[in-house]
Amino acid sequence: MSVGRPPAARHAALVELIAEHNRAYYTLDAPVISDAEYDKLFRELRALEAAHPDLVTASSPTQRVGSALTEGFGKVVHAHRMMSLDNAYEESDLRDFDRRVRDGLREGERVRYVCEPKIDGLSIEVAYRGGKLVQAATRGDGTIGEDVTANLRTIRALPLTIPDPRDLTVRGEVLIYREDLETINEARVAAGEEAFMNPRNAAAGSLRQKDPRKTAERPLRVFFYDLVERVFETQHEMLEGLHALGLPTHRREHVAADLDAVLAFIADFDTARRGLPYETDGVVVKVDSFAQREHLGATSRFPRWATAFKFAPEQVRTVVRAITCDVGRTGALTPVVDLDEVLLAGTMVARASLHNLDYVATKDVRVGDTVLIEKAGEIIPQVVSVDLDARPSDTVPWAPPRVCPVCATAVKREEGVAALRCPNVACAGRRKASIFYFTRRSAMDIDRLGWALVEQLVDGGLVGDVAQLFELPQRRAALLELERMGAKSVDNVLAAVEVARTGRTLARLLTGLGIPLVGEVAARAVAERYGTLRALLDTPPDEVRAQLAELHGIGEKIAESVAAWLEEPANRDVCERLLALGVRAEQPPPAAPREGPLTGSSFCVTGVLSRPREQVHESIRAAGGEIHDTVKKGTTYLVAGEKVGASKLDTARKRGTRVLDEAQLLVLLEGGTLPPTSS
Ligand code: IVH
Repeated sequence: MSVGRPPAARHAALVELIAEHNRAYYTLDAPVISDAEYDKLFRELRALEAAHPDLVTASSPTQRVGSALTEGFGKVVHAHRMMSLDNAYEESDLRDFDRRVRDGLREGERVRYVCEPKIDGLSIEVAYRGGKLVQAATRGDGTIGEDVTANLRTIRALPLTIPDPRDLTVRGEVLIYREDLETINEARVAAGEEAFMNPRNAAAGSLRQKDPRKTAERPLRVFFYDLVERVFETQHEMLEGLHALGLPTHRREHVAADLDAVLAFIADFDTARRGLPYETDGVVVKVDSFAQREHLGATSRFPRWATAFKFAPEQVRTVVRAITCDVGRTGALTPVVDLDEVLLAGTMVARASLHNLDYVATKDVRVGDTVLIEKAGEIIPQVVSVDLDARPSDTVPWAPPRVCPVCATAVKREEGVAALRCPNVACAGRRKASIFYFTRRSAMDIDRLGWALVEQLVDGGLVGDVAQLFELPQRRAALLELERMGAKSVDNVLAAVEVARTGRTLARLLTGLGIPLVGEVAARAVAERYGTLRALLDTPPDEVRAQLAELHGIGEKIAESVAAWLEEPANRDVCERLLALGVRAEQPPPAAPREGPLTGSSFCVTGVLSRPREQVHESIRAAGGEIHDTVKKGTTYLVAGEKVGASKLDTARKRGTRVLDEAQLLVLLEGGTLPPTSS
């Protein structure tokens, strides 16, 4: 007890003690007290601060739990660019890397490597000044990140002070342990929310919370692997140094005397990593000596002194129990398999996509088959192959359904494509998908309305179309009757609906309505042309057709699609009801075209990128570039993230559009130029 001690001294002692226990737990992985004892210290500190508010300092652990809601995130310009790494997939890629490194050094010079786990998380930069944490930022586009100080401070694993008064800037990865992710997901599903697909999504989603208290509820961790200031001579000394400062590091580094030692480590680590409590997707191989690194330098995209060896995605075998079809908002049927549940790359998987009818036919997937599954882009599980040797004798080829699995309407086969469509606009499957589409991040952004809740709302007859979402406040009692919907969840959902009702632009509303061919970019152009939904509805569809066709970046097909959509009475009815319910349907006037390094160039962005697509669009626009929804004649660049379909790339090639990866886009954003292409 604190009897007899001046409160200030006891306060300082408690702050130090709690920091020490955090260090023991997160950095040394060796807790010395129980959770209950830890909580007791924490409570004592809280009580002391309540009695003596003047004692509270920014470094007190009670201040980790932020309270202020952040209105978006401020921007942070990284003093040194946060580069990403070149990838290696095969031993030969590593041999090439090693050769390039040795060729780049003076003759006869020895090179030593440090191998580290490649942690599947979110990279961050944290600045300490005078021993105190002053700022934390995400990587962003490598040059400009987001200020997430308030959120990161809530991570207990992150020391608020370090015993070194120098200006130190450390970089590392925010992550979440597999087990913690499972706990979070159980709670999310119970609350009718969508489960996080993988630890990286969970970490990213948690850090980008507008309310730091939400971040504080997530058991995030952090491992550092880089110090920007040149204090040490080698990577392995630096990692030791960070650890000595009490900063959590992965403690899994391995110094390798040559490439053979690197290869041996990778082989061992592929097994060892399965026993780690967190997800890793490869091994980062770095030249140990900082002097040698300086000598080797960097290309416009990557350092020449490091590479990331990526393990092939994990695959597991399981048995197909059923083959069914999901119904999309346009009625398109996507075949999926129900599987015996298995653990795959950190999550339990019971369904996998079969993409389209051709895919099922080519792979000849049958009920009862043993299949190999993996996660495409580490998110969506998909069937890779069928083990024909394990096929039971009584299986039959799968026959595509003749009727919609949801509403039993006869399905239509699309001409020329391997797709079936449910033509019934009132189909509950289509309605669910349309409503879910409306809630998407790039549309009305109602993240409280996960798929499970949308299903319940439609099945329970509470919501039949997107307009009825805004009638939910009048149905509070019925909402409380739903499964897993307590008063708090209901309030949260209603608050989210209210925010969407008054806080979104017409462009987002139009995006959410899912007019065929109208993506975010076209929706914005339409919204900017008419300004309000009222004005759009009051313009005869024929005039809309002509006006839009003339609009820059729209084209006749989209103009036709918008006009046809507006001619449909059911669509007009939804719009009228949205307006009657007070949904804000206005578009702020467009900002004056911006001048910048990308002025005169147009971009289509596709695939999985390191940032949400909307943000990438925004940086392109900010630099003066124009966005195209699809690759058309005249699109200057296609920015291709991971997992881009071959057809997109083909179109680009045909139309003379240059394909860029994210790093090359960065070069352009920074005003740099790219080497000419060979073709
Ligand atoms: S070093 C110059 N070390 O992988 C690049 N990165 O693909 C310095 N990552 O953006 C990065 N574990 O987010 C480094 N042990 C590790 C890492 C690691 C995960 C991430 C990091 C980086 C990405 C590059």
